[in-house]
Amino acid sequence: VEKKATNVHWHEGEIKRTDRAAILGHKGATLWFTGLSGSGKSTVAVAVEKALAARGVLSYRLDGDNVRLGINANLGFSAEDRHENIRRVGEISKLFADAGTIVLSSFISPYIGDREKVRAIHEQGDLDFFEVFVDCSLESAEARDPKGLYKKARAGEIKGFTGIDDPYEAPGKAEIHLRSDQQSLEEEVEIVLKALEKAGIIP
Ligand code: PPS
Repeated sequence: VEKKATNVHWHEGEIKRTDRAAILGHKGATLWFTGLSGSGKSTVAVAVEKALAARGVLSYRLDGDNVRLGINANLGFSAEDRHENIRRVGEISKLFADAGTIVLSSFISPYIGDREKVRAIHEQGDLDFFEVFVDCSLESAEARDPKGLYKKARAGEIKGFTGIDDPYEAPGKAEIHLRSDQQSLEEEVEIVLKALEKAGIIP
């Protein structure tokens, strides 16, 4: 990104990340759900959010459709706008994770390079980052078509739709690999929670 701000300096506070974790009783982290439209990213995130709340763990969802109604309302679906969408929500995720929240970010995020940048800013900030590949065949996602968007894309009413006439670069090495067209929602939630336990993020 082109940096336009000059003469700006990081201002360190007196309450550290460890102090916030002590208040909350758990560390923050980012779970980055990536997958085709209709793969079930948001559905899994909503279920994980409920399961975490039941354990007294604070999480917060960031979702493509939702942030595109607000902070990213000026972005469309060109490659350039998708890069900027992911850059911004990546930075927002980092802030929430630093605040101590388990961030559940659900974005198609079709480009490996963009996801790697989000991973890098977390690693540079010493924050835990889990890429969660919500793996679902195009066939299944299209059969579900919860918003009728595939139908519109096939009819040529939407141009540049992911999986139809726009790319999706699947992760090669995601920390968590879900098969949403084969596993139940309960199984998927269990896999995510186990990964968080194993990494010492939640008790
Ligand atoms: S991206 O690629 O990460 O910037 O996309 P994201 O912010 O996750 O937004 C995806 C949702 O936008 C709707 N939508 C489209 N998706 C893909 N391609 C095109 N052209 C498009 N136009 C609108 C769609 O509802 C996506 O929601 P999900 O939940 O992924 O189905």
